[in-house]
Amino acid sequence: MNELPVYQIKVQGKLNEEWTQAFGGMDVIYEGAPPQITVFTGPLADQSALHGVLARVHDLDLPLLSVARIGIGGDGAGITPAQIAQPLRALYTPRLAQTGSNGRLIELRDLVKIYRTPAGDFPALRSINLSVSRGEFVAVVGKSGSGKTTMINMLTGIDRPTSGAVLVDEIDIHALNESKMSSWRGRNLGVVFQFFQLLPTLTLIENVTLPMDLCGAYPLRERRARALRLLELVDIAENADKLPSEISGGQQQRAAIARALANDPPIIAADEPTGNLDFRTADAIIALFQNLVDQGKTILMVTHDNDLASRASRIVELADGEIIRS
Ligand SMILES: Nc1ncnc2c1ncn2[C@@H]1O[C@H](COP(=O)(O)OP(=O)(O)OP(=O)(O)O)[C@@H](O)[C@H]1O
Ligand SMILES: [Mg+2]
Repeated sequence: MNELPVYQIKVQGKLNEEWTQAFGGMDVIYEGAPPQITVFTGPLADQSALHGVLARVHDLDLPLLSVARIGIGGDGAGITPAQIAQPLRALYTPRLAQTGSNGRLIELRDLVKIYRTPAGDFPALRSINLSVSRGEFVAVVGKSGSGKTTMINMLTGIDRPTSGAVLVDEIDIHALNESKMSSWRGRNLGVVFQFFQLLPTLTLIENVTLPMDLCGAYPLRERRARALRLLELVDIAENADKLPSEISGGQQQRAAIARALANDPPIIAADEPTGNLDFRTADAIIALFQNLVDQGKTILMVTHDNDLASRASRIVELADGEIIRS
């Protein structure tokens, strides 16, 4: 079976009993009549299987709202709801609630990261313990080389710890395999990288649309307009059709922030998101982050700027791979 991330199943109207049972226990959104179903998954599915599924869904009088891509073998002929539901269930990654009780959302437990280099082992994190509650705005500070980016990379699952665990809403994210990790990240995390990491061959609006395409979190026809709104939010909509190489570092940084917000993630991890911005623009980004926190999001932001750090709800300071203030 192909491993494809499944992000959301949206059903309009009432399903018959067979389909209801097939999707039982999954995060299915029912809305409106006539009955319609949307199954959003990753972009890599086998097209012939997909067409078979679509035909079958039509047979069952369940018009599709949007593209369904399902990783099942064969031509899809004679597929039953149970056959569709099974791979979906196996791949299904729950989306974190955007708001909810103020319990611990993120827990770093005895986190150790040792980089192995030809020059020897380098302990970049030495037993980090940290709990972050839902709705906190955490500034991560510390000298260059203290381990800030390393810690963020463990939390986002971009790199694996040497030992210890990262729990997000009680999910041990490093116990997920690569494909589940990427689907989990796509749904739950917006990451702003220290060096932006925009795709150089895509325009800004394409860069911002890409996470939505990968996740299917928004219907195809809404994605471009949403991307444009996000570019407006960070005040670079006029550059939407330019390539990253055609704009300034600060503008690239703002595009990276827009991209991180693309799927409306409950958690945002931003590594020096204002490092290339002038004071006024940085100020606007912090105000945007504060606004997102007011909406129930949880933000971890690395910064060198003490004034900006003081506007977060909490400051965590690292020195030589250890937390010296939290
Ligand atoms: N891939 C790697 N291989 C070996 N050592 C690494 C690697 N990445 C980081 N390090 C080392 O780990 C330490 C922590 O690096 P990290 O990038 O986390 O620091 P930082 O606090 O983000 O610094 P800055 O403020 O300069 O971005 C540094 O001493 C760095 O040289
Ligand atoms: Mg760094």
